[in-house]
Amino acid sequence: MLIIHARIAILNGLSPKENREIPPLNYERVYMIKERFPHLKVILNGGVKSIDDAMQILALVDGVMMGREAYHNPWILHRVDELLFGESPNTYSRIDTVRDYLPYVARQLSDGTPLQHMTRHILGLFHGVPGGKAFRRHLSENAFRRDAGLSVLEDAIARVEDFSSIANREEQTA
Ligand SMILES: Cc1cc2nc3c(=O)[nH]c(=O)nc-3n(C[C@H](O)[C@H](O)[C@H](O)COP(=O)(O)O)c2cc1C
Repeated sequence: MLIIHARIAILNGLSPKENREIPPLNYERVYMIKERFPHLKVILNGGVKSIDDAMQILALVDGVMMGREAYHNPWILHRVDELLFGESPNTYSRIDTVRDYLPYVARQLSDGTPLQHMTRHILGLFHGVPGGKAFRRHLSENAFRRDAGLSVLEDAIARVEDFSSIANREEQTA
């Protein structure tokens, strides 16, 4: 199996971060490798930003790897099992998901892991939805403090819930 980055890496001259942005994406090259070596499993990596795009790419290769978009906007993956693997639709909301994370965070806090080490990975969970900015801001401004505990995350969740209850009320009165 080959996982092929669709950008060429320029090792002397560009940093790893620059190598993820500057060299142009060349999906054709990856498709050609699959054509030339059909018996190999070929996974395309680089620049994929939606499940729709992934599905189109999957018509030509065996797999897709998503890096930054999955990290910065993880909710784009919430229908992946349904759309790609034929599983039943995921009925979890973003809030359900972050609530499910709480026992893990509590356990890690009691082992001495700083809160910020866990919350930094979920800053993008509410990306693009009402309250998402307030969630992110609350965590950015509070999770780094030395005494930051579970309540910081619970308060951040409450800020999103404030927005969703306003949205629901508006929907009911509309
Ligand atoms: C949070 C994060 C961690 C990563 N860690 C690694 C790593 O440990 N090793 C590696 O080879 N690439 C790593 N990458 C790079 C990705 O595997 C991928 O090649 C790169 O992000 C390009 O794909 P993208 O355009 O979908 O982000 C990481 C990317 C992200 C966003």
